[in-house]
Amino acid sequence: MSAAAAQHRSAASSSLSAQRRQGGVILLGGTSAIGLAIVRALVSREGGRVALVGRQRQPLAAAAQSLQGNPAVEVEIFPGLEGRATGSHRELIEGAAAALGGVATIVLSVGVLGAGGDPLADVAGALDLMAVNAMGCASLALESARYLRGQGHGALIVISSLAAVRPRRANFVYGASKAALDALAQGLADELHGSGVRVLAVRPGFVRSPMTAGMAEAPLACDPEDVARAVLHGLSSGAQTVWAPRKLALLALAMRLLPRPLWRRLRR
Ligand SMILES: NC(=O)c1ccc[n+]([C@@H]2O[C@H](COP(=O)([O-])OP(=O)(O)OC[C@H]3O[C@@H](n4cnc5c(N)ncnc54)[C@H](OP(=O)(O)O)[C@@H]3O)[C@@H](O)[C@H]2O)c1
Repeated sequence: MSAAAAQHRSAASSSLSAQRRQGGVILLGGTSAIGLAIVRALVSREGGRVALVGRQRQPLAAAAQSLQGNPAVEVEIFPGLEGRATGSHRELIEGAAAALGGVATIVLSVGVLGAGGDPLADVAGALDLMAVNAMGCASLALESARYLRGQGHGALIVISSLAAVRPRRANFVYGASKAALDALAQGLADELHGSGVRVLAVRPGFVRSPMTAGMAEAPLACDPEDVARAVLHGLSSGAQTVWAPRKLALLALAMRLLPRPLWRRLRR
């Protein structure tokens, strides 16, 4: 490793350590494979307190178990999170934060991919996807940001998607929902600049996780651990947007530049 790389790594690790001393980690979407990989990476060196907030007790308990190999990690679970039930989000976040005694990082990793059928044949299904990915996640992001601003410090990590960059014909409702969340995260990052609170929008491409199980892999497919590495790098470098894997930024540029008649022909 070069001297510059070693210096960067040590600065990164001390800024992450400082962050950890300020409180625990809340994962909204407590069973998410990507979210759990990020949490694991955040607490891997020095341990810490973790609150897994999700829908059902049993899968959350299994997720908690998967983090407990590290004796320096304490995990508590908070069932009862429903993305669509926006009225309950504040209380859940505040309850988890109180149990942790302060929050260093909130990871928002709730989301559904949708069946990918014809949204005009199933408008209700399309709106339900928007209710979870756009409205529900907007509520969770805003309530998280509100909490962190009140506390005066912390980081909010919002899992957006490459799909936010340009909606694909094959799954444009999902793309639209992620574009809404991504724009909200970018706006929050500017709004909170200088407040002591950081917001990081994470744009993964195809990630091998339960969400994509059984699907044909897209170019630059990666694992949840690759997303976690990119997030850690983003946190230490002061980035506002993180691509996972990082070379996805180039693919996103090509996606943006592709003429519309060609883009329209892409089926997957
Ligand atoms: N996998 C990919 O290729 C990929 C790429 C880009 C972005 N993303 C985004 O990354 C995030 C995490 O996805 P993942 O790959 O880790 O998939 P995952 O393991 O299936 O995680 C999805 C999470 O969302 C939760 N969830 C779904 N519907 C919910 C609802 N109505 N209310 C509350 N929670 C709900 C799930 O909870 P349950 O366990 O209760 O179902 C689970 O915790 C999502 O926002 C996804 O859009 C994924």
